[in-house]
Amino acid sequence: MKIIDNISELKKEIAQLQGSIGLVPTMGALHDGHKSLIDKAVSENENVVVSIFVNPIQFGANEDLDKYPRQLELDSKLCENAGVKIVFAPKVSEMYGENKNNLTLICPPYGVVDKLCGKSRPGHFDGVCSVVAKLFNLTKANKAYFGQKDAQQLFIIQKMVRDLNFDIEIVPCPIVREADNLALSSRNQYLTPSDRKDGLSISKALFNAKEMVERGIKQTRVIIDNSLKIMEELDVEYIEFVDKNTFEFQEEIDENTIMLIAARVKESNTRLIDNINL
Ligand code: PAF
Repeated sequence: MKIIDNISELKKEIAQLQGSIGLVPTMGALHDGHKSLIDKAVSENENVVVSIFVNPIQFGANEDLDKYPRQLELDSKLCENAGVKIVFAPKVSEMYGENKNNLTLICPPYGVVDKLCGKSRPGHFDGVCSVVAKLFNLTKANKAYFGQKDAQQLFIIQKMVRDLNFDIEIVPCPIVREADNLALSSRNQYLTPSDRKDGLSISKALFNAKEMVERGIKQTRVIIDNSLKIMEELDVEYIEFVDKNTFEFQEEIDENTIMLIAARVKESNTRLIDNINL
């Protein structure tokens, strides 16, 4: 496995690869959720590239860019053991030159970014799409693997690929959870023991909602009231229901509904997101 930190070397290596290329874009601090994307990529491609880049242009001014966990050595070991060919871990200046505030960006349309995570994180999805498009161009990947935990991100990237005719297949991968159902996230490293306990109420609310729907409840209002009770220890940012094909909000649940939650735990103020297919 090669660990590459510059674009010209990456291009040289990519040009020499034989067979299909699978890309797993990450910001590092790899966990079993990332590992499941990497394993799927390795099983479907001759070559797998994992990018590890904490992308500054997708963080807002008051967000956790500086404290975001960075552990390249550990991450590289995980990649090597999983059968990855190339880890691409560039510095910010390598990706964006000296002025990251003067870049050509990809801006997804207002209708998909004015809601859910995009509402509290203005510019976030411009930063995500721009770096992902760059990684698609640099790696010439045939397939790229994204987790369904970031459901809005996945939807927006699929839309970008369609709208801009990128020649790449996006492979959605299921959410990976701890035994107690906490969705895996690199940001779980911030949780204090009491935060971790409180944070569990997010997946509890989602699984509870699924049970309610199975019992015939279709009104989102009823499910929201119940979820708020379950999550009373958290600062809830949103509980929303969207059609998975359009990301339009829904008031009544049907077979296409995804329920999405974002909430902050109180001690570390960590923002957690999770979702479920109802
Ligand atoms: O999901 C993430 O980790 C990031 O948003 C991504 C897709 C690697 C882009 O920086």
